[in-house]
Amino acid sequence: MKRPDNLTTKIFLDGGDPNETREIIALLGFLDGQTTNPSLVAKNPLFQECSNGDTACTDDDLWRAYKEIVTEISPLVPESVSIEVYADKDTKAESMIEKGLELNTWIPNAHIKLPITTEGLKAASALTEQGLKVNMTLCFTQDQAAAVYAATKTANPGDVYLSPFVGRLDDRNEDGMSYVKNVVKMFKDSDHHVSPLVASVRSLEHFMYSLSLGADIVTAPGSILREWAEAGMPVPDSSYEYDAGELVAFDYQEKNLEEDWQNFDLSHELTDKGIERFAADWNNLLK
Ligand code: E4P
Repeated sequence: MKRPDNLTTKIFLDGGDPNETREIIALLGFLDGQTTNPSLVAKNPLFQECSNGDTACTDDDLWRAYKEIVTEISPLVPESVSIEVYADKDTKAESMIEKGLELNTWIPNAHIKLPITTEGLKAASALTEQGLKVNMTLCFTQDQAAAVYAATKTANPGDVYLSPFVGRLDDRNEDGMSYVKNVVKMFKDSDHHVSPLVASVRSLEHFMYSLSLGADIVTAPGSILREWAEAGMPVPDSSYEYDAGELVAFDYQEKNLEEDWQNFDLSHELTDKGIERFAADWNNLLK
């Protein structure tokens, strides 16, 4: 197989195993990039190796394993590999900046993943001003998306990925894809320094609808990309009908992208919970 001619959305794999990356490339005939996160890489056997025997993994062991994984993935995908900093509710921007600068030296095509919090946005602003690329994660509201745009104004097109999380909204009976549609619309006539990257994709329908909306990027687990391949890699046009069932749709909100980012409301329960979960998955390996 090869990239379908009418496919404009970039396809990323959401995972933490280079073997899976190779398998998906062999299956699709191409793969544009990869996203990783602490929960995904924690499943890689490399992360468990240090805990064999009586000693626990150290923080250095975990970062060494993470580096080994993304270093192997990096040359396989042309566009980007997202690497997530460690962040819990108390992590300051300075620490994310320091870690981001270090992670960026690992590979030539890194996007540094940061949470959309006040500290994460301060870090994003500082890192993009220094020419680094970022992926702003755990995005659940248009306010958060607008704040990312406003905080990274100096970035070039493609340098800032914004990850709206579909599945986690669906999990609480909200229509995650209607939110993605709103985000895509909000950035349609912008300067495009922010690229919507649909994340937390849980079904082939999520994936297909992302293509039909013309999202810049969609990241999907290997299972969904295999389903897409089995279906012959169809690329739906804008007439694709997505059935959200009983999920409650989000209304579109007009936002002024020229405002100061600090004026936007950054709070969302799922962002807080997501940060907690990523930090817990990482810290559990240290026990
Ligand atoms: C990718 O960047 C995200 O971290 C990932 O898609 C989250 O997916 P989940 O909500 O299924 O954990």
